Amino acid sequence: MTILMVCLGNICRSPLAEGILLQKIKMAGLNWQVDSAGTNGFHVHEAPHYLSQSVAKKKGIDISNQLCRRFVPEDFDRFDKIYAMAGDVLDEMKQISGKKFISQKAELLLNVVYPGENRDIPDPWYGPEAGYYKVFEMIDEACEILIKQL
Ligand code: 4NP
Repeated sequence: MTILMVCLGNICRSPLAEGILLQKIKMAGLNWQVDSAGTNGFHVHEAPHYLSQSVAKKKGIDISNQLCRRFVPEDFDRFDKIYAMAGDVLDEMKQISGKKFISQKAELLLNVVYPGENRDIPDPWYGPEAGYYKVFEMIDEACEILIKQL
């Protein structure tokens, strides 16, 4: 399996999703590949936000080596499943991908936990540290279910 996690900036939510899923994959002894990307490209080549890094570190996950990249249409060729952190991200993925968009491959991450409800993982970017913990827990729960489903 090849899985891509996508948010707007690729510095807060999707780096956490990449790190959390990678850790679960490792613990399950699976040989899956995981990457993350952002739709807006404002932070390309930057490391994850320091609060995403610190929350992950407290949970035993090192995401400091990740580097931001922009989501590209060819990601639909490279990945089996692409999970968007929120509805606005999924809309931007559609805009960027054009004819490359494959609806069967794209899904909101929280639909893994709450099928069909189209819930968003809130953007913690403008808020305090607590938001990053909340986002961590939401992504962690989704990845736990995702790995069992797939
Ligand atoms: P993320 O959060 O999508 O979870 O990485 C954001 C980070 C930066 C921006 C937007 C969202 N930005 O516009 O710079």
